[in-house]
Amino acid sequence: MFEIKHRDGMGRIGKLKINGKIVETPTIMPVVHPNPKKQTVSIDKIRELADVIITNSYITYSNPELRTIAEERGIHNLIGFDKVIVTDSGSFQLSVYGDVAVKPLEIVEFQEKIGVDVGTILDIPTAPYVNREQAEKELGETIKRAKESIELKEKNNYKLLLNGTIQGSTYMDLRRKSAEIMGKLNFDIYPIGAVVPLMENYDYKTVVDIIINSKMFLPTNKPVHLFGCGHPMMFALSVALGCDLFDSAAYALYAKDGRYLTEDGTIHLEDLKDLDNFPCSCPVCSKYSPKELYNMNKKDRTRLLAEHNLYITFEEINRIKNAIKEGNLWELVEERCRCHPKLLEAYRRALTYNDFIERFDPITKKSAFFYNGYESMFRPEVLRHKKRLNRIKFDKIFITTVSKDIKRPYSEHINNMHSDVDILIKDDVFGLVPLNIDTVYPLSQNEIPELYDYEKLHNKKFVEEFLEQFRNNENNNDKIMDIHTYNYYTSYYNSNHNKNKIDRDALRIDRMLQYQYGFKILDDELLQNIIIKRSKKTGRIRNVLIDVNGKKEVLFTLRANDNLLIPAKEGAKLLHKKIPFPNYRVVVDKSVQEFARDGKSVYAKFVIDCDRELRPYEEVLVVNEDDELLAYGTTILNGQELMEFDYGVAVNVRGGLQ
Ligand code: GUN
Ligand code: ZN
Repeated sequence: MFEIKHRDGMGRIGKLKINGKIVETPTIMPVVHPNPKKQTVSIDKIRELADVIITNSYITYSNPELRTIAEERGIHNLIGFDKVIVTDSGSFQLSVYGDVAVKPLEIVEFQEKIGVDVGTILDIPTAPYVNREQAEKELGETIKRAKESIELKEKNNYKLLLNGTIQGSTYMDLRRKSAEIMGKLNFDIYPIGAVVPLMENYDYKTVVDIIINSKMFLPTNKPVHLFGCGHPMMFALSVALGCDLFDSAAYALYAKDGRYLTEDGTIHLEDLKDLDNFPCSCPVCSKYSPKELYNMNKKDRTRLLAEHNLYITFEEINRIKNAIKEGNLWELVEERCRCHPKLLEAYRRALTYNDFIERFDPITKKSAFFYNGYESMFRPEVLRHKKRLNRIKFDKIFITTVSKDIKRPYSEHINNMHSDVDILIKDDVFGLVPLNIDTVYPLSQNEIPELYDYEKLHNKKFVEEFLEQFRNNENNNDKIMDIHTYNYYTSYYNSNHNKNKIDRDALRIDRMLQYQYGFKILDDELLQNIIIKRSKKTGRIRNVLIDVNGKKEVLFTLRANDNLLIPAKEGAKLLHKKIPFPNYRVVVDKSVQEFARDGKSVYAKFVIDCDRELRPYEEVLVVNEDDELLAYGTTILNGQELMEFDYGVAVNVRGGLQ
């Protein structure tokens, strides 16, 4: 019932099917009071904006009038909303008042009875920083209730989907344990609970710890809801860390307090009242001036402020979705995290988990990598490059720097290359960039401003360690030259050059293939025999071909925007021959192998094994259990997700092998 359509960072645009109704995530669920008389914004207005709302089953249960209507006519009729209704269980009241007058299973039963689409167990939201004993005890109770609730639902074939909330206070091992145990119970959505007090204290970095530690142990194929996070300022970062759903009472609560939400903070209406116009163009802000709103009666003012707050909240969600599609979600996060130092701190904390995040971050993006400050040094794209640099088996290397006025890609300006030597260019952000792969994403698809001296020192150790390792590997000691400028290199080159047997372009393709696939694809014979076609217009490499019995066959196409080598049929066969199982494989069930051979997409449901190290958007080989090549294409999912997802497309197949 959940599938991924687009992705960036750990964020995903997902399609979630609930009782036959489709919801696109990430999305925000406005909190709606079950009593229509108490709703700040009319349900008609909410319906215009939201596909899902969240309301409270405990309030409904506790109020005889509401309860009767809900029991007789259902929650959708009570509220007047026929799209998806999620309900909370009374846990929040439990955390505020210390007690609720309903039993854990009773409230689950009630939620089913009133026709809720997604209900919530009566979890215990343990406050932050309580003593460990209490956190453990309450988590134990939450898990016990979770198990009983799932049993009840399964025994009685409930239609209701269930939220299984992750608790554990501020003990990260308890959050991980909670996620691991709850993850194995068959919940439909996993909310992360009890973060409201942390948000109220601006302790966003601890919220980051909690999100990541939960995500580490939750199944990847279920949506995650960040319970009680309603301020749009926090959405981009939370989405980038893998949260799919948010609920907002903030839009109404802030309005009651005369506060005007923006995507990067909050303004008191009083502080706006002397402006002629609002800094927003939503229907409310276009119609009224700040002064008019300020002078209005409280009820109308609150309603209109709340409407604005809702508009701005949805606008931010839509902006995030667009960033995911464009592949610049991290850039949006970096922008938002400059709204408040505590958010910057949270982003920095998030980047300490970049090794985990990198597993989900796509290997290629539509947008260029923008360096927006020192934090960008720690982004997953940079980390991945440093890891994948070790995939290339260099023979001889030159380490050099390039003068500032030489533009990227350097390889288009530095021509006279020694074909048996790899030039590694020192790079302030990416550490070392081999000239032979410097057109590959993100090594040329980036914008980096002039850096401060301390930023330039950032990769000093990385370069030293790389050289140290290279030296220690197979006695490479005499194969490194550290030359400081390109000019120096040129003179070295000119005095040492002798015509080499291997074509410069062939070596380039060899290095790019090693970087992309982690194995040596071109042996000596292939290096001699591949044919490289350049575009007549741009002069750039376009295709790599091979002569098969007098007929030229395309092996790979160099994709223009990211310079990844996209295999054609013969290329896929070559990769299959050269890359040992299970690397770069997606293994599908025998029952669908003919579909794959026909070039049809591979659905996640039929994946039975795969290379667990795969990252999203890699070019993969689709095989059967006997490792017979069936097809080749692009995986939408990473290795872990390929194993866990049961819905949606896993591999977009480019071609099949009949
Ligand atoms: N609303 C805000 N936080 C929580 C939580 O931890 N659990 C539940 N059930 N609802 C919440
Ligand atoms: Zn507005």
